[in-house]
Amino acid sequence: MFKDIYIETERLILKPYCMEDIDDLYKVYSDEKVMSYIPEGVMSFQWVKDLIEWMVEDCYENNTPDNIDKFGVSVVDKKKNKVIGWCGLGSLDCKPEDVELFYGLSSEYWGQGLATEAAMAMLHYGFDIIGLKRIIAVVKSDNIASKKVIEKLGMKFKNILNVDDPNYSGYDGELYYALTKDEYNENNVL
Ligand SMILES: CC(C)(COP(=O)(O)OP(=O)(O)OC[C@H]1O[C@@H](n2cnc3c(N)ncnc32)[C@H](O)[C@@H]1OP(=O)(O)O)[C@@H](O)C(=O)NCCC(=O)NCCS
Repeated sequence: MFKDIYIETERLILKPYCMEDIDDLYKVYSDEKVMSYIPEGVMSFQWVKDLIEWMVEDCYENNTPDNIDKFGVSVVDKKKNKVIGWCGLGSLDCKPEDVELFYGLSSEYWGQGLATEAAMAMLHYGFDIIGLKRIIAVVKSDNIASKKVIEKLGMKFKNILNVDDPNYSGYDGELYYALTKDEYNENNVL
């Protein structure tokens, strides 16, 4: 479901992953600066290929509003018509009942408000198109840029994650933020 996403913002387009974009996506997923905050770390070309295949053939086919596995999309720089990052929604691995917002941008594009622009569009899609009632975000306490993005989106800090499951120990100690649809609507009429 919702595999035909196409959102235009002022400077960006959000569109589905496709194999034609593998070189640009690989550039982002193999960027050490970007991946240092992502549990998977720097990814190989084959890993990115598998990721695109999984997203297109499995996730896009099987996601439903009540059961989103992962819904990742490409973030395109409109002017250059080039994929510069990813953004998406998906079940939080350590707490699958939650739908998490995630994003990452090629480091040469940082500091221009682009992640906030992409993430805001994804929140709109999650609340207004998919019909989600609540979206969360998690972030490592030293990831200042991402914390800033989350706060600029109006998400509210709730607690620090305490994760006992050794399979998901990477989440332990991360900051947990949430936004309900009502709060999102209130923020957007102000
Ligand atoms: C997080 C990330 C997507 C932010 O991208 P971005 O396009 O630079 O984000 P924005 O420009 O929209 O906002 C970043 C904000 O953080 C601020 N910021 C960035 N680094 C900072 C620092 N070291 N100290 C203080 N503020 C900082 C920026 O000034 C900006 O705030 P402002 O709009 O008030 O000036 C990007 O850094 C990234 O891809 N990081 C690696 C992947 C990642 O961490 N993903 C999220 C996992 S939770």
